[in-house]
Amino acid sequence: MTTLFAALILAAVIPPKWDEVAKGVWRGRIGAHDSPTLTEAAEAVPRSASIKAKSQVPFDLKQVKMDVASEYARVELPLAKGEKIFGLGLQMKGSDRRGGVYHLQVDHYAEGHDRLHAPTPFYVSSRGYAVFFNTTRPINVYVGVGNRTDRNDAPARDRNTDPKWDAQPDSGHVEASVQGPGIEVLVFEGPTAMDAVRRYVMYCGGGAMPPQWALGFWHRTPSLATAKQVEDEAGEFDRRGFPLDVIGLEPGWQSTSYPGTMEWDPGRFPNPDKFLKGQSAMGVHVNLWENPYVKPGSKLAEALQPGFGSHTVWLGLVPDINLPRVAKAERDFHAAEHLDKGVSGYKIDEVDGFDNWLWPDHATFPSGLSGIRMRQIYGVLWQRELTRLFEERNERTFGLVRGSNGAATRFPFAIYSDTYDHRQYVTALTSSSLAGVLWCAEIRSASTDEEWVRRMQSACLSPIAQLNAWDSGKKPWSYPAVEKEVKEAMLLRESLVPYLYTTFWQYASEGTPPVRPMCLVDGGEETDQYLLGDDLLVAPMFVGETSRKVRLPAGKWYDYQTGKYVGSQQTVEISPKLAEIPLFVRGGRAIPTFAGATRAQGEAYLPRCYGDGPWAGQIYEDDGKSVAYRSGAYGFFDLTSGADKVSQKHLAGSRRELARKLLPPLIVGKA
Ligand code: GAL
Repeated sequence: MTTLFAALILAAVIPPKWDEVAKGVWRGRIGAHDSPTLTEAAEAVPRSASIKAKSQVPFDLKQVKMDVASEYARVELPLAKGEKIFGLGLQMKGSDRRGGVYHLQVDHYAEGHDRLHAPTPFYVSSRGYAVFFNTTRPINVYVGVGNRTDRNDAPARDRNTDPKWDAQPDSGHVEASVQGPGIEVLVFEGPTAMDAVRRYVMYCGGGAMPPQWALGFWHRTPSLATAKQVEDEAGEFDRRGFPLDVIGLEPGWQSTSYPGTMEWDPGRFPNPDKFLKGQSAMGVHVNLWENPYVKPGSKLAEALQPGFGSHTVWLGLVPDINLPRVAKAERDFHAAEHLDKGVSGYKIDEVDGFDNWLWPDHATFPSGLSGIRMRQIYGVLWQRELTRLFEERNERTFGLVRGSNGAATRFPFAIYSDTYDHRQYVTALTSSSLAGVLWCAEIRSASTDEEWVRRMQSACLSPIAQLNAWDSGKKPWSYPAVEKEVKEAMLLRESLVPYLYTTFWQYASEGTPPVRPMCLVDGGEETDQYLLGDDLLVAPMFVGETSRKVRLPAGKWYDYQTGKYVGSQQTVEISPKLAEIPLFVRGGRAIPTFAGATRAQGEAYLPRCYGDGPWAGQIYEDDGKSVAYRSGAYGFFDLTSGADKVSQKHLAGSRRELARKLLPPLIVGKA
């Protein structure tokens, strides 16, 4: 205790030490190394960002103050006048965070508290740099808030007479603190905000690369559906011509759940091998819901013994997935019971709770992590182990998880929620990219035909296009009056798979997030529009609205469906009909698509061209499912299209030619 005390006092007087730990990435530390950090928990192996432009943080790192005092480790960073701060996790509201206090703790999002599904302690500045507090402790971040006695933030004024009086003038600083013996902060250079995000993602090991099939359409069946009912439902997609790539099974696939056995229910799924083979023959992948808390006495509980936390969750044993032995036993169980039979991924539920329904702060775990820190990273650890499980088999997966945190960028999982506000879902889409997180703007049900269509359109333009009917039992055709419009949105999704796959390659290899909020594009603050990849601009419509404003960034923009010219660097008012998805394309570009596909695969690429030719595009191709691309088994190509013919130029990877045919271009709209 005395030594710890001495260390704390010492830490307080030593200035932070800065190291350039990767090109353009500066690490400052104060106090004791507080393991595990987020990068340690995620086992992040930094990769270098391929940013050519010269950069520098726009302030002297010596201006950053760090100290350890009265139980807290603190970092203080300068803010310039007018500087805007974006990020601080998967936020459902707002854009510029300046003027706010953020208590970054994992929980399911709800009105009335500020805890989040993925509270990544990472922010991006409008001045073109980013900051990451690399800690697994809950952290409070004060953005321009908190006037200190050791600074002169503003003169004290007389409220009685001075109209400029302000109780809390902007502090000109960010202060962040954790209750702990030390903290690490990482500062990422730009020169642009997007470059800073790229450096962060690459420092964490790169972005996730889902298998190609996972970019198609996902449908989750009702909780208690039997194998026969699921087979019928999947078959009906085909009969009706609706696309389907992934079927998700909810709690009823297990013999008991909450707490779960993670074993097939012999009544509802009497022959899992046959069921999985049947789905695979239809080109459909199967994703299993799990809540990781294990039924006492079950086969899995026996295999994990003695590796549980001190408390239960809904009477389920909590595996200490941070213990290598437990993690290995989990992987072995999942491989034998599910993957060997053909399961392709998981939805990991309820890893995003607070102390009232997960476990208390003081809970203990055999690996030594406290309850409060385990809550901050439980979802990250599950993503880590499931990613490892698939990669060890040379397979890729894409899944869902309800809680995450920083440094998890390389894990192929998207976050979802039980909340259901459409506007918040779109804000989450835009804010998640800043956080190095993917978001699933799923559709579940709707009160009107219009809502069903508009939500489906948003779902189809998000990282995972999913109908989650676990409770509603809805199918895409459940609203007959708008069946055609819904089908169109789903088919659009399938056709965009080559473009989306190429976009994800940019995420994996350069760290550029697939969904790009306007603050990364050109410093805009809109949360209701975003770029999907380099060349598509999405402006979702919300229920009850017949028109909306869209701000078109630099470039000439065309309507995706009609090819009509819409404008350039201006705000336009649009009034799309229900069938019309507000989706715009950058002029001069060739968008690689699959034509007429009802699965996320096609025999040929159809480039859709807009604006003045010749049209340029890019396309990434690999085997779509293994991790061989990491050792160079892929092809990355430039496309150049004239009016009738497209040519390919090899840019990188051992595949010299595209495996699929390139169809003559479709010139959708001309200038
Ligand atoms: C919820 C989850 C839903 C669904 C449900 C099944 O926790 O958010 O998407 O999976 O559990 O019981």
